[in-house]
Amino acid sequence: MDGNGRWAQLRGEPRPEGHRAGAAAVRKIVREARRRGIQALTLFAFSEQNWQRPDFEVNALMSLLLQFLVDERKELLENQIALRAIGRLERLPREVREKLDELARETAPGARMTLTLALSYGGREELVDVFRAMAEEVAAGRLAPEEIDEALVDARLPSVAVGQVDLLIRTGAEQRISNFLLWGAAYAELYFSSKLWPDFEEGDLVAALDHYKTRDRRFGRVADSRPMKTEVAKRGTE
Ligand code: FPP
Repeated sequence: MDGNGRWAQLRGEPRPEGHRAGAAAVRKIVREARRRGIQALTLFAFSEQNWQRPDFEVNALMSLLLQFLVDERKELLENQIALRAIGRLERLPREVREKLDELARETAPGARMTLTLALSYGGREELVDVFRAMAEEVAAGRLAPEEIDEALVDARLPSVAVGQVDLLIRTGAEQRISNFLLWGAAYAELYFSSKLWPDFEEGDLVAALDHYKTRDRRFGRVADSRPMKTEVAKRGTE
């Protein structure tokens, strides 16, 4: 969700105003994703590197997050949206952690969509944490090195619990992955929008989804070797 700072600067306002507008965009996009039947939406709301921003900006982001968790409770429950968080959550302020835990518990039965907030998150950090835990298990004799394979890493990575990434959208006119969902996004379709995040609207999400529908996802194979893909199967019978 890139571009909040620039959005504010363009208006001569302090950066936290951009984050406030960004939080409003979050609400709109979550609603639209739910309406469109998206099963899992993961939002990069705060990176592990964002702690290095000035205190006033970090504090503003934490209060917006807290406000979001309080304000959206009812809507998440009513719409059967399960909220979860990934990242080094122990670094978050206690009240944010408590609210996240409470809301995650309450909304857990929500089966229509999973909304994951990536907070104090970094894709490399997530992998390092998993590798370290595995190394400890190997050292303790509970895991054999040959048991470590892609399926096991998948099973251990919190970001992959909702599945591999199908579509990765980045706003703000930058074309970088910036340490987001590195493992799960191995075969993600990438979509870059030049809009600043606060200006990203429902129609922009729909445009990204429409673009996704046109993509031919080969996962390293050639088209003819994919019998499971309906278009390919149909073409084969024509
Ligand atoms: C990156 O834009 C955005 C962030 C670091 C924060 C994203 C946070 C929100 C959208 C609001 C709070 C979140 C929730 C879930 C309520 P930037 O500040 O790096 O923008 P810039 O590149 O223009 O400086």
